[in-house]
Amino acid sequence: MNNEKRIIDAWRTNAEAWVDAIVHQGIRAPGTHSREAILDAINAHAKPPARILDAGCGEGWLVGVLANAGFDVTGVDACHALIDYGRQKVRARFEVGDLANLKPLALGMFDLIVCNFSLFGEASVRRFVQSVPSLLDERGTCIIQTLHPLAFFGPGNYRSQWREGTWAGLPGHFSDPAPWYFRTLSDWAALFRDAGCRIVEIRESGAEPGRVETIVFVIEAG
Ligand SMILES: C[S@@+](CC[C@H](N)C(=O)[O-])C[C@H]1O[C@@H](n2cnc3c(N)ncnc32)[C@H](O)[C@@H]1O
Repeated sequence: MNNEKRIIDAWRTNAEAWVDAIVHQGIRAPGTHSREAILDAINAHAKPPARILDAGCGEGWLVGVLANAGFDVTGVDACHALIDYGRQKVRARFEVGDLANLKPLALGMFDLIVCNFSLFGEASVRRFVQSVPSLLDERGTCIIQTLHPLAFFGPGNYRSQWREGTWAGLPGHFSDPAPWYFRTLSDWAALFRDAGCRIVEIRESGAEPGRVETIVFVIEAG
């Protein structure tokens, strides 16, 4: 099976475990590093009632936080079960869709697009990033949080590549991990440039001072 399809299948297979990890195991609880990192970045670049697209929103925790803060939020995810969960819990617009092909959803335009650990593929991520300018209003911003390259590239292995995935570190009963196309920093930058976007800010941080775990790219079209 192709890797892009395996990614989506893995999330569909593990939707229940993912909801449990978020809702009962607190992996996105207030104070957790990646939650605070993405919220800080969003709040630095948008004010309510800005229109926000949460691309790869999962079960909708971030949609809920942003909607409660007064933002006009739309969540999109490829996994029906996660979107169904979000619809039951959060008053916001939710759509099932593949980030690689958002056009059929006719989502409209946004002031901000956020991708919080939702970009895993090679061609699918390229297609999504290429669509970002068509989804952003003139002064719009796209914010992407992902694993920092330093956190996964071992010595002598720094090149963009597919890796077999792992659920290591996540609590609960996960199975069939998805592969992940890891990118070097220069390949992320080339991806944005080829889509007509430019990086306006990079944030690097970790749970402890001096430790880097995630990177947040802030990009704009044009
Ligand atoms: C690690 S979870 C993150 C969910 C959420 N953003 C969060 O912060 O908790 C990754 C999510 O990305 C979604 N996803 C992965 N690839 C996708 C694609 N091509 N199109 C739409 N959703 C995708 C998965 O279904 C899953 O819900």
